[in-house]
Amino acid sequence: MRYQLVPLYCRPWTLNGISPRLIESHYENNYGSALNRLNAISEEIEQFDFGNASDLSLARLKRDEIAALNSTLLHELYFASLGGDGRVLPDALANAIAKDFGSVDRWRREFAGIANGLAGGSGWVLLTYVPRDGRLVNQIASEHDQCIAGGMPILALDMYEHAYHLEFGANANAYIAAFMRNIDWPAVKLRYEDAIKVAPPRPLEQKEFADTPSVSVEEVREMLKSGTPVQIIDTRPKHYTTKAQDIMEGAVWRDPERLDDWIGTLSKTEPVVTFCVYGFHIGCQTASALRKAGFDARYMSGGHFAWKAIKGPVRLFE
Ligand SMILES: [Fe+2]
Repeated sequence: MRYQLVPLYCRPWTLNGISPRLIESHYENNYGSALNRLNAISEEIEQFDFGNASDLSLARLKRDEIAALNSTLLHELYFASLGGDGRVLPDALANAIAKDFGSVDRWRREFAGIANGLAGGSGWVLLTYVPRDGRLVNQIASEHDQCIAGGMPILALDMYEHAYHLEFGANANAYIAAFMRNIDWPAVKLRYEDAIKVAPPRPLEQKEFADTPSVSVEEVREMLKSGTPVQIIDTRPKHYTTKAQDIMEGAVWRDPERLDDWIGTLSKTEPVVTFCVYGFHIGCQTASALRKAGFDARYMSGGHFAWKAIKGPVRLFE
């Protein structure tokens, strides 16, 4: 495929302290070159001779492709980030930024601070929406291929020297200030509205246990920390425990096959948390059986390994 050039989004003559000459050079030489490079690489990949050329050179082409593609996309976002008055943020965006950074002022300091840290070097400063957590993050992309996976940049500041040297020389500080003065906030808000429509990654679904309540490892850690009385039962299968080296601190192991033998030792007045190796079946089944018997039981999602992954305390399993 051939990538199409996107027309310049901002109107260079309206910018405050950034001259049309700088934008024109940047658009023509740097954005244009990235797009041409991208198309040349795409063509090379399309004509790749799988019979004779090595897979190594294909991998090299694919690496070059992602750098050229991201350079193209980020330059388009950069030009689309400019052309506003930089001051007034639409309410919805100001609220989102305040929620994720404390205040708009803090965001501004962080964003411009990161840019200052890049001055004299190169890279991008991006305001990126991360659907997984439904939040905005400022990020550095030192190369064109260092964007947050699954993130959606909505504002881009180009800190490659070509973006300012022609006009600002080594005075990156003045360039950053000029950029901040020209941010097109209403356009950023529209991109933010588009970004938040992206669904977060799909969570694990366990339809067969939809009616059995679960508890996260973080919640269990909080219960233990605050001294909430809770009976924690490790129900990893017997065959598995022969190779298990450790057990969650505060848990007792019970053979899930012999529930009838130990159910009588549990108290009905204290909540019960059960778990197995990864949290898929046995912990859930046990919690479900205990609930049927009248216990306030839940299964710990993620099981033993989720507990280990949050560095929850364990002891030797004997
Ligand atoms: Fe650039």
